[in-house]
Amino acid sequence: MAERPYIVGNWKMNGTRAMLAQARAIDRASQNLMKVEVAIAPPYTLIHATHREVEQIGVGAQDCHPDPEGAHTGDISATMAADAGAKFAILGHSERRQDHGESNALVAAKASAALEAGMRIILCCGESEETRDAGKAESFVTRQLKASLPENLESPEESLTVAYEPIWAIGTGRTPTVEDIGAMHSAIRALLVELYGEEQGQLVRILYGGSVKPENARELLDADEVGGALVGGASLTAESFLGIVMAAADTADA
Ligand code: 13P
Repeated sequence: MAERPYIVGNWKMNGTRAMLAQARAIDRASQNLMKVEVAIAPPYTLIHATHREVEQIGVGAQDCHPDPEGAHTGDISATMAADAGAKFAILGHSERRQDHGESNALVAAKASAALEAGMRIILCCGESEETRDAGKAESFVTRQLKASLPENLESPEESLTVAYEPIWAIGTGRTPTVEDIGAMHSAIRALLVELYGEEQGQLVRILYGGSVKPENARELLDADEVGGALVGGASLTAESFLGIVMAAADTADA
């Protein structure tokens, strides 16, 4: 476990203003759990209100357009997300790659735009069940990640977080074994060291995502090279999300 675990809630397409009470509760409790870095990525419509509501936790976006402005009906640029209060953007989530046909090159362009707008990035990667069954998970994920990384990344240790999310584990209640997570995160670590050098490559946090819950968080967070978690369903109530944050605080103490 990294020195300061990073626990990020991805609210996906969930949440109206009523959810701000959950954000507030997460924020207030996190003020007593400073060993853990806590953040949430609400839908765009709640970024500004969440940003105003919280004092301690980070607030981020779930995507951004690669251009700073222009004729792109319905899209939101990195500059606009940052202006609303987002300090980071989640990019390359498998749901974006699947639902919107996002290529690695587009993810890299979005990541570049987010950095340009002064945000940190959480870059997602992960294999399908077929790829894992074919024994190709590690080669697929490292290739996908390498092709999705932006070229203008100057301080990876500050600006970049990687999230490994096997597609078959998202929202399914299934998770890889601790050994499989450790092996994948070690392969990602080796790529980061190859790209950014020993010192910086070792400092980039690699989160695990996919069916993380309060009940399994401790075990998953203890896997090799896991620096935190990207949480979907279990981040939607303060109670379950804080259960995960507390498990991370325990691992940081251990
Ligand atoms: P679940 O935690 O709901 O499996 O979602 C994981 C995820 O996709 C977070 O980005």
